[in-house]
Amino acid sequence: MGIKVAKRSTVDAFRVMDVMRAAQDAEQAGRAVYHLEVGQPGTPAPAAAREAVKQALDAQTLGYTMALGTDELRQGISDLYQRWYGIDLPASRIAVTQGASGAFALAFLTAFDAGDSVALATPGYPCYRNILNALGLKSVEIMTGPETQYQPTVEALDALAEPIDGLIIASPSNPTGSMLSPEDFTAISDWCQRNGVRLISDEIYHGLTYGTPETTAAAVNPDAIVINSFSKYFSMTGWRVGWLAMPENMMRSLERLQGNMTICTPAISQIAALGALNATDELDSLREGYRRNRTILRQALLDGGISEISSPDGAFYLYANVSHLTDDAVALCSRILDETGIAITPGADFDTKRGQNFIRLSYCTDEASVQTAAKLLTRWLRDQH
Ligand SMILES: Cc1ncc(COP(=O)(O)O)c(C=O)c1O
Repeated sequence: MGIKVAKRSTVDAFRVMDVMRAAQDAEQAGRAVYHLEVGQPGTPAPAAAREAVKQALDAQTLGYTMALGTDELRQGISDLYQRWYGIDLPASRIAVTQGASGAFALAFLTAFDAGDSVALATPGYPCYRNILNALGLKSVEIMTGPETQYQPTVEALDALAEPIDGLIIASPSNPTGSMLSPEDFTAISDWCQRNGVRLISDEIYHGLTYGTPETTAAAVNPDAIVINSFSKYFSMTGWRVGWLAMPENMMRSLERLQGNMTICTPAISQIAALGALNATDELDSLREGYRRNRTILRQALLDGGISEISSPDGAFYLYANVSHLTDDAVALCSRILDETGIAITPGADFDTKRGQNFIRLSYCTDEASVQTAAKLLTRWLRDQH
């Protein structure tokens, strides 16, 4: 008799990983590949982070840290809230986690019980849905489109068929890069407060915005859970370090969960993260590079006849409607990779229903690659007419 395997383990694959593999195979076969598929900066951790690590390797034992993170890093993150948003978010409300990814599971376990419903915008980052489902929570999709910048609205929340226990928002968002205005952000936050809904705000792309001001839920909603990471603005994806901020009365539960599940975030990564907090000049100059890449790539799509592109207020993504070219974006991306060497992510990861009509392009790779890819892409798109 077969032994059971949990049904909840059968979450969707994160398809961008398949594109990464195909791109890597093409590269190993000697092709020039332009990496517009993956949402990770092409740069290493900032110099100050690497220097801190070099010193710590010889000077420290690097054992376990406290479950919620080192006091120094928690205080450093608290200081960042003062610097970025002018608010007082005490270190006692901050926990260091294994990336934003590690923070999601901890946040969901701390805030919700099995069977609770959590709403999220589609298209959106697929791991929210997959982690919720694996934990026995119900994910409720709010279908969004260009008319609301692919962001949820109070009207959409009012129109939900059933009550919800939580709402996840991301501004800027992955895959669209679009943002909620400060007014819309506050209106959604107030709706959550009025309806007893726990707001979870994924702020991983803060620091990477190109005009629209960022709002942190920590400033407008005392009950919100804020999630952030050193992966994107701080250019430290592989170090696996992020954080979350929660109301004080949830911190003890969080500490117990983290202690049981992972003990702590790797000590060396916490040291690197502390160093990175002061690398403002280096990191801001990376953002300026992304800003230039954004202009180049957006123009390349427009020149190639793609006109419905998300408004890229932040992050480093463009989400483009390619329904005039295909209703199978996976096949389209595979052809583009074969014929031009440009790796692009199909939309199906982010929207299981409409994603076959969309592609996501990431522009956080180096400027020279983006420039060459932009020319090749425009030419390829024009050849399709
Ligand atoms: C919106 C969003 N949240 C979270 C993550 C996960 O980030 P981390 O590397 O901090 O786990 C990503 C990664 O791409 C993301 O786009």
